[in-house]
Amino acid sequence: MSFFKPAVPSTLPKGAPPVRHYLQFTDFSTEEYGYLLERAAFIKQKFKTFQRHQPLVDRTLAMIFEKASTRTRVSFEAGMYQLGGSVVHLTTGDSQLGRSEPIEDSAKVISRMTDIVMIRTYEQSKLERFAAHSRVPVINGLTNEFHPCQILADIFTYIEHRGPIAGKTVAWVGDGNNMANTWLQAAALLGFHLRVSTPSGYEVNEITAAAPASMGAGSYKTYADPMEACAGADLVTTDVWTSMGFETENEVRRKAFAAWCVDRKMMAVAAPKAIFMHCLPAHRGEEVEAEVIDGPQSVVWDEAENRMHVQKALMEYLLLGKQ
Ligand code: CP
Ligand code: NVA
Repeated sequence: MSFFKPAVPSTLPKGAPPVRHYLQFTDFSTEEYGYLLERAAFIKQKFKTFQRHQPLVDRTLAMIFEKASTRTRVSFEAGMYQLGGSVVHLTTGDSQLGRSEPIEDSAKVISRMTDIVMIRTYEQSKLERFAAHSRVPVINGLTNEFHPCQILADIFTYIEHRGPIAGKTVAWVGDGNNMANTWLQAAALLGFHLRVSTPSGYEVNEITAAAPASMGAGSYKTYADPMEACAGADLVTTDVWTSMGFETENEVRRKAFAAWCVDRKMMAVAAPKAIFMHCLPAHRGEEVEAEVIDGPQSVVWDEAENRMHVQKALMEYLLLGKQ
């Protein structure tokens, strides 16, 4: 064999299953979420009882961060090592991505050397362009529009604490942002009722959220008054008033959102067994009162930890299918 003959073909093997990406919550069906949530519980249980689960030995996850992160980085990195694989961490500042190498070229190169890619970036369209040129699955680690891994963890956490989420009522209080958009998609697919209360001018973009035409068994309703949205809710949840990339609007937003702080009064009108979630990082005294996030109804630490367990199930599913 000539030394210069390529050792591997330059295209994927014939008959290889089509590559699946996880770019937004609607990329999976209701049935697939049923599988993933069960699988995440199984994987978490194994991890908690010190049983090795390493289906991804020799596989590599590339993580690309164009925005800051604590939870997403640690959960994907620790999770991939636990699955037996390795991780490559790239940021805009320390790669050619920050020196205007085209995203398409980056996708072609990175997906030749790694087996799965997680990206945190600005526009969803940038993530989509990467995925369109990637030979391997691409996962949305947060964009301006969506944060599907977080909502997967939130739903897993709700089920862990209170059982099935179908038919339950979730109140979103605050910005109509990437988290709110993704909650809307999830309500349609998983059949729960979503109430959204945002200040005027910060509504959820229903076109961006592109929820399936029918809400199925779920529903979506907007409320001008956050107290009304919380009345009788099973889960109350919020997020920062200013998301990454919108920092110049900080002062204007602080004024506009002043009445959208999740406080003890809002939790008091929610269902007696209501729980509180926040994807974190949180600003006590802004979007949430310290007494709520640090109080008995808050499950935010379980919520953060569960990122790792659900993402392990997600990576296994994207690479190996159902087990
Ligand atoms: N919730 C979340 O995605 O946190 P990080 O920004 O720390 O990753
Ligand atoms: N909406 C927030 C979520 C942070 C995890 C942001 O995009 O900054």
